[in-house]
Amino acid sequence: METRKHVWITGANSGLGLATSRALALAGWFVSMACRNEERGQRALAEVHRAAGRDSARLVLCDLASLDSVRKATTSLPKSHPTLHALVNNAATIQAKRQETDDGFEMQLGVNHLGHFLLSHRLQPFMDTSGPDQARIVNVTSGAHKIGRIHWNDLQLEQGYGPFRSYAQTKLANILFTYELARRLDGRFHVNCIHPGAIASNFGRESGGALAAFIFTVFRPFFLTAEQAAKPLVQLVDGSKGAVTGKYFSRHKEVRSSPASYDIDAAQRLWSISTDLIDLTDEERRRSGLYRQ
Ligand SMILES: NC(=O)c1ccc[n+]([C@@H]2O[C@H](COP(=O)([O-])OP(=O)(O)OC[C@H]3O[C@@H](n4cnc5c(N)ncnc54)[C@H](OP(=O)(O)O)[C@@H]3O)[C@@H](O)[C@H]2O)c1
Repeated sequence: METRKHVWITGANSGLGLATSRALALAGWFVSMACRNEERGQRALAEVHRAAGRDSARLVLCDLASLDSVRKATTSLPKSHPTLHALVNNAATIQAKRQETDDGFEMQLGVNHLGHFLLSHRLQPFMDTSGPDQARIVNVTSGAHKIGRIHWNDLQLEQGYGPFRSYAQTKLANILFTYELARRLDGRFHVNCIHPGAIASNFGRESGGALAAFIFTVFRPFFLTAEQAAKPLVQLVDGSKGAVTGKYFSRHKEVRSSPASYDIDAAQRLWSISTDLIDLTDEERRRSGLYRQ
């Protein structure tokens, strides 16, 4: 019988996602590495296999910029690993110019928030709920949430797009989602979020525009390696630190997030708008267990 725990990690082919995949595989987890690109995904999978063995991980193709792709990737889990003990919503993008996903959402809103919002719903039925500490969700946010606000009248930023304006909005959305999910899970298992610190990764290098490229190049020598940044995240998935729920961590430390992130009305409003945008079906709603029947 399979005794290893099973974790699903988005953005697993690069930076923090790859380092976390490798660390958890080495710690004895089976890792579902969710990536949008087959070639980059296979390369990352081979790295994890080299480090932790050929049966330590599998590749799942899942493009968060496509609701259809998220739905296809989550229809079932492998027979050998039918239960999930952790989900790490890590992938993110920043776009210099306003782009849209397959479903017509502003790209950062679509990938960083809505794609993960749907993914988290779709994976709920597979989460181990046999005890409060059996499963965990960790959402990767950023300190940038502090300058973010939810642009209720222009959520898709059609009127006033800016790469950091959008990024900060989505990273605040990650925290509002975490806190509302914790309320809805009502202790069934743990969900927390983390700012991993500034990382010398691929983030924003190609898509983020001149300012992002400047920041990520000039300050790179002062940034954490992906392996360093992964340590506190791994502890939230696999250590006693993660046995809390509805908390925000700045690297190793549990701290308070911005005042705006504790606005319960805002969290519920964003949740409701998000379910409408992703066209959550009655079946998905029911199976997620996140709604009062
Ligand atoms: N880097 C930092 O300084 C920093 C600071 C604070 C917070 N963070 C957060 O840390 C997390 C990881 O970032 P990172 O630094 O490791 O960046 P990264 O190296 O650029 O990794 C981002 C990952 O997200 C994936 N991704 C992008 N668009 C996607 C899509 N449509 N569908 C599925 N996956 C997609 C990327 O895949 P591709 O390789 O195919 O593009 C990549 O695997 C993010 O949530 C970010 O907001 C980063």
